[in-house]
Amino acid sequence: MFNLIKEKKQSDDNLLDSLDKNNIPLHIAIIMDGNGRWAKKRNLPRTMGHKAGVETIREIVKVCSNIGVKYLTLYAFSTENWKRPADEVNALMNLLVEYLRREVQELDKNNVVINWIGDIAKLPAICQEELLRAKEKTKDNTGLVLNLALNYGSRDEIIRAIKKIAIDVRDGKLKTEDINEELINGYLDTAGMPDPDLMIRPSGELRISNFLLWQIAYSELWFSNIFWPDFNKNELLKAILEYQKRDRRFGGVK
Ligand code: FPP
Repeated sequence: MFNLIKEKKQSDDNLLDSLDKNNIPLHIAIIMDGNGRWAKKRNLPRTMGHKAGVETIREIVKVCSNIGVKYLTLYAFSTENWKRPADEVNALMNLLVEYLRREVQELDKNNVVINWIGDIAKLPAICQEELLRAKEKTKDNTGLVLNLALNYGSRDEIIRAIKKIAIDVRDGKLKTEDINEELINGYLDTAGMPDPDLMIRPSGELRISNFLLWQIAYSELWFSNIFWPDFNKNELLKAILEYQKRDRRFGGVK
């Protein structure tokens, strides 16, 4: 057992040593998928998979914070996830409240800023309260921004942005000619944040599922077969190492 732990630690350290510290993705976005299948494989209820997924969040936040990632956006609850059975939706909302209550102190100590994207007005009041409390407590920190996507859907975000733009044009605050990429960026939930450099989806699914569609125009994509509860520091480092080998041309030539 001890040897196994030692071996794992060594492989983590090797991966960590291989990282180019000058080319760490500024913004990583993750679709935390596979919780249900992880639980099913173990004959456990799906909610246990989500619970195990929260432990992965703790580990990944720590690694991102330590290696100097500036933004970590986690797809925690989509606009489509309301279609799930009420029990599962409630369990996810409870896990969010529990996570914020349990972790905020530690996150604050580690200089993490808590933020979110998505329309949280539709979440239960207790979730909104804990989110606001966590945001307020961590607002002056200068480290990793942990950006939770909650009741988030890219199409919904774009619709909300278009409505705000239309209102500002109607009210004379904006001219149609002013509408450009930069202006639209400023109306999205991710206003002020850089686009993700790297998007990760574990669990074997090869799709984007309505996550940050506008923002990932030039993101590097990385997929793995591992279910989110089994995702770990090693997997993240592997994704970043692969990212560092990619030749990002943004439509140009080098
Ligand atoms: C997708 O797996 C996962 C989700 C819809 C929820 C992710 C939420 C958490 C990890 C925990 C709650 C969040 C916080 C911030 C505390 P799935 O259930 O679709 O997996 P499956 O495809 O195997 O069924």
